[in-house]
Amino acid sequence: MNRYLLPLSVLGTVAGGAVLLRDYVAGGSCPSKATILGKTVIVTGANTGIGKQTALELAKRGGNIILACRDMEKCEAAARDIRRETLNHHVSARHLDLASLKSIREFAAKITEEKERVHILINNAAVMRCPHWTTEDGFEMQFGVNHLGHFLLTNLLLDTLKASAPSRIVNLSSLAHVAGHMDFDDLNWEKRTYDTKAAYCQSKLAVVLFTKELSRRLQGTCVASLAGLSLPLALRLEQSSCDAGPMGGQARVPEQSRWTRDTHGTVFTGARSRRH
Ligand SMILES: NC(=O)c1ccc[n+]([C@@H]2O[C@H](COP(=O)([O-])OP(=O)(O)OC[C@H]3O[C@@H](n4cnc5c(N)ncnc54)[C@H](OP(=O)(O)O)[C@@H]3O)[C@@H](O)[C@H]2O)c1
Repeated sequence: MNRYLLPLSVLGTVAGGAVLLRDYVAGGSCPSKATILGKTVIVTGANTGIGKQTALELAKRGGNIILACRDMEKCEAAARDIRRETLNHHVSARHLDLASLKSIREFAAKITEEKERVHILINNAAVMRCPHWTTEDGFEMQFGVNHLGHFLLTNLLLDTLKASAPSRIVNLSSLAHVAGHMDFDDLNWEKRTYDTKAAYCQSKLAVVLFTKELSRRLQGTCVASLAGLSLPLALRLEQSSCDAGPMGGQARVPEQSRWTRDTHGTVFTGARSRRH
């Protein structure tokens, strides 16, 4: 029996270590039991990946979820999957191509026309490490979609988000922003040799800087601008401190030990990057 003890304890340690490593890399699960009945949520790029999973989770919690995607076939299929799995029928698909300012304006115009309230905007869609492509309007693709597209969308929906306070704008950044460098003289990579990884990092740094500045400008409005992974941040609607007064209230990000601030002062959850 004793000769099995060492190999068994090594095996147990390796298996335990693998589980801990998986949890660490995946960022753990969201422990919140919060529901968002009747809240309207927009998730960009929700037909797959983190966006679809976030939309699914928020649909389970009772929200009216709008999947905003560039490919309507994939978008409708994702909405069907989510409705089937959650039995929440308030899950719909809308066209939004973040590589087209026209498409963004059309999407926002329809939303503001049809929806009195938007409580959560999750800017999730992204292009990652593509060749040197440009958007319909001539912007470098990763900067154009990941930052500029969401920048325009957020600003077009801002009045509705303010009218829906307490509300949330959640921008999906990435640890890649730490390696990012903003070249304000050449945001479109026209003067330098294109480096797709550096362009992704620049776009994600732009997302963080935008989030931080937006957060500063939204002080006193009960609209919180947050960066990181979407679900835990989106769910904190009910916990924001909003003291109604003549100037509105103050949206406060609750203290939580797993939450950190990066070098730019932006709030992140403890979630970590899987592969970007
Ligand atoms: N996965 C990670 O490990 C990780 C780590 C850190 C940060 N992030 C961030 O988390 C977010 C989601 O990542 P993910 O891994 O889930 O990405 P993903 O699986 O590649 O999905 C990206 C989504 O964005 C959509 N999209 C791309 N270009 C678009 C456009 N022009 N207009 C509208 N939608 C567009 C895609 O649509 P199509 O299906 O039509 O292409 C897709 O739905 C991204 O912001 C990413 O930077 C991810």
